[in-house]
Amino acid sequence: MPQVSLEREGRVAVIVIDNPPVNALSPGIAEGVIDIFRAMEADSGIDAMVIIGAGRSFIAGADIRYFGKGAKRLGLGDRVSDLIDLGSKPVVAAIHGYALGGGLEYALACHYRIARSDARLGLPEVLIGAIPGGGGTQRLPRLIGPAAALDIILSGRHVPAVEAHSLGLVDALVEPQQDLRSAAVAFALGVAATRPLPCLRNRPVPAEPAALARLFSDAREGLARKAREQQVPRQCLLAVEAGCTLPFDEGLREEWRLFHEIESSTEARALRYAFFAEREAAKLPDMPAAGAVPGQDAAREVRSLAVIGAGTMGGGIAMSAADAGLQVRLYDATPEALVRGMDSIRRNYGISVERGKLTQAQSLERIARIGSAASLDELADCDAVVEAVFEDLDVKRQVFARLDAIMKPDALLLTNTSAIDVDLIASATARPHSVAGAHFFSPANVMKLLEIVRCDATSAATLKATVQLGRSLRKTCVVVRNGEGFLTSRSRTPLTTEAMILLEEGALPEQIDRVMTDFGYPMGPFAVSDLVGLDIGHAVRVARAKADPDFRKLPVPDRLVEMGRLGQKTGAGWYRYEAGRRTPLADPEMTALIGAMAAQLGTGGKSFTDAQILHRLLFSSVNECCHILQEGRIYRASDIDVAWLHGFGFPRFRGGLMFWADTLGAAAIAQQVSRWHAELGPRWAPAPLLLEAARTGLALREIKPMLQPMALDAVAND
Ligand code: COA
Repeated sequence: MPQVSLEREGRVAVIVIDNPPVNALSPGIAEGVIDIFRAMEADSGIDAMVIIGAGRSFIAGADIRYFGKGAKRLGLGDRVSDLIDLGSKPVVAAIHGYALGGGLEYALACHYRIARSDARLGLPEVLIGAIPGGGGTQRLPRLIGPAAALDIILSGRHVPAVEAHSLGLVDALVEPQQDLRSAAVAFALGVAATRPLPCLRNRPVPAEPAALARLFSDAREGLARKAREQQVPRQCLLAVEAGCTLPFDEGLREEWRLFHEIESSTEARALRYAFFAEREAAKLPDMPAAGAVPGQDAAREVRSLAVIGAGTMGGGIAMSAADAGLQVRLYDATPEALVRGMDSIRRNYGISVERGKLTQAQSLERIARIGSAASLDELADCDAVVEAVFEDLDVKRQVFARLDAIMKPDALLLTNTSAIDVDLIASATARPHSVAGAHFFSPANVMKLLEIVRCDATSAATLKATVQLGRSLRKTCVVVRNGEGFLTSRSRTPLTTEAMILLEEGALPEQIDRVMTDFGYPMGPFAVSDLVGLDIGHAVRVARAKADPDFRKLPVPDRLVEMGRLGQKTGAGWYRYEAGRRTPLADPEMTALIGAMAAQLGTGGKSFTDAQILHRLLFSSVNECCHILQEGRIYRASDIDVAWLHGFGFPRFRGGLMFWADTLGAAAIAQQVSRWHAELGPRWAPAPLLLEAARTGLALREIKPMLQPMALDAVAND
């Protein structure tokens, strides 16, 4: 039950908001604050007020669960943010943890703001498909200037309190070891007699009209370039513009109108869905209840991580762990490879310093956390080990047999394989319950996704600890059952295959890539293929063709590999590259080659609309995901969306693959897939679950195929 309470400290009223875990503004809270505020205004024993949050945060914002649901809200003029600054007594916001969205808007309506130096403040509505609707777009530009306000509102970033103080957003800072509440009460007493009260609604926006016009036209141009298909950032911009050009009350009305206009749009729903899908993905519903298995509830916190393999992947994993404060030990089979790996880590940190992302001191601190190990034995006492060696089953089995012999008994044994059967790796050890897959995405220190692969024998404790490790590395974790291609590779392979087949039919790489970037991807599949290297996909195809005589060959990319066009690393792939540059340039030689091959195959000459290309690529993956769901390989359909958002750059404002599919409807997709099945062959056979969803109207994103419950005997063995 959300609570707002009043505590008196002499002549200061302290209004405490207590709604765990993050004091989101659930229904009832605003009314509670207003009741106390009005009573204190009328109370002659009170000279000033403080608003503070109980627990770990000030206020993390409006309660997003109620957005778009038609929940009853206080109207314009009756809201907390409309009333506080019109009061006759000073009100001080005392901020710790997070002051976000509606929380910062409460604070902006207060006359003063003091914050703990480790707090974070922001208006992140743009990230969850809303615009700040409680006066944030009107007051922030008046307080810190329109350019800084626009940056905070359009990026949605969490501003550290120290920066907020230098911007003038916060009046005073309190060190973490000091008591925020007493500091706020003292501050309130100090300003109790100050009049007139500083009130942002009465303050002009500090900017000349010409500078304002330039700022907004530049911002509009920026959005046209970077967020062409998105409405929410545009609405935010319009609201700030209203804040800077209209009288306060008119601007407030415009902000409120824009807020309501966007709230139920598909884009807003997609972004809210993505927020909750990410949080859901971290939940493991089939774990034994606390206390069910004696001795299994203690957290196995990982403080030290061993990484085997100092190549691009291993180096990225080591950096990711060092960034999160873990002690790392890096090993490679040859001393030269280890030296090369350490050099490359130092170089990468150097680039972060050059780009102003880290200070020199921070980068040195992180590098110092990564030690090199001359032998595997030196890894023995680490809490967890991630193997990132060459993708070869025999090599990996040898590594795991060795790890089994040396690692301490409760260490997590993780493999970063992207394709190999993790059960086969685990069976090289006498403790398969301690083994799981930890599939990072390249570059591992940047990409947010961690695909955690659960083997048949993986114990609950191992799985929980691996998810915990992923979270401490600030990754978004998705748990999948072991199986070919896991979730990520298996669900994306149909898309890349279809892209290659479209070339045989008359499309060109630059055309397909343009369709996908127009859709919102940062890069199209051919530009990605050039980045990753065409040899990677080729090796997978060779292995699959060996295992499956009916495997659909892809002659066009195979021909490029034969020609040595492996992508950026060879200066040419699907595109050509100028020396030292990474910009893909359309290559007439490729156009001629693809045309000639299509003619030779007798399949070319077709032309495609953008929608046909988009649907051919994405429907093939939606169909595969329905098979994955039917086989119970993941906990829930929304995990697919989380994986695609964080592993493949699927545009967030479209929610994710399955959310997007639902906007078209399973019935329309099933119909098209069935048509392509008749026209293009068995690879398009519609998944039974897709047909069922089409028949019943079931939303694809809501399908919940639980993984099999954890075997308790495996847990007990752990
Ligand atoms: N409304 C409703 N629920 C919220 C919420 C909000 N504004 N902010 C957080 N929560 C919930 C989360 O869904 C999660 O619930 P769960 O435990 O049932 O999954 C819980 O609070 C904890 O959130 P989590 O994100 O796991 O905690 P964190 O410490 O990693 O991050 C925040 C805390 C505040 C940074 C993060 O939750 C966040 O960004 N929240 C949204 C802030 C926002 O956009 N505010 C503007 C809204 S107008």
